[in-house]
Amino acid sequence: MKDKDLIVCRCEEVTKGEILEAIEQGACSITGIKRRTRAGMGLCQGKTCQKLVERIFAKETGSKPEELLPCTDRPPVRPVSFRVLGGGNDE
Ligand code: FES
Repeated sequence: MKDKDLIVCRCEEVTKGEILEAIEQGACSITGIKRRTRAGMGLCQGKTCQKLVERIFAKETGSKPEELLPCTDRPPVRPVSFRVLGGGNDE
């Protein structure tokens, strides 16, 4: 298996090669990669892949991961009650 064939985003089946291609095509942020490849738009909303995408982007662009702007957050896939958000129990 080639390095470019590695699946980075399992939810959307996005490979490292597709992320590198997005950067070559001008993606200049994590959000830009997300828009071009859908990496981070799957069921887990990037909880699994976002750090990997950030590391690949930082390595390719010579930037530091902590300097990258975060992706635009999306609401949870499943509804969450205000009681749970406030720290209470949902039961
Ligand atoms: S692994 Fe990328 S969105 Fe879930």
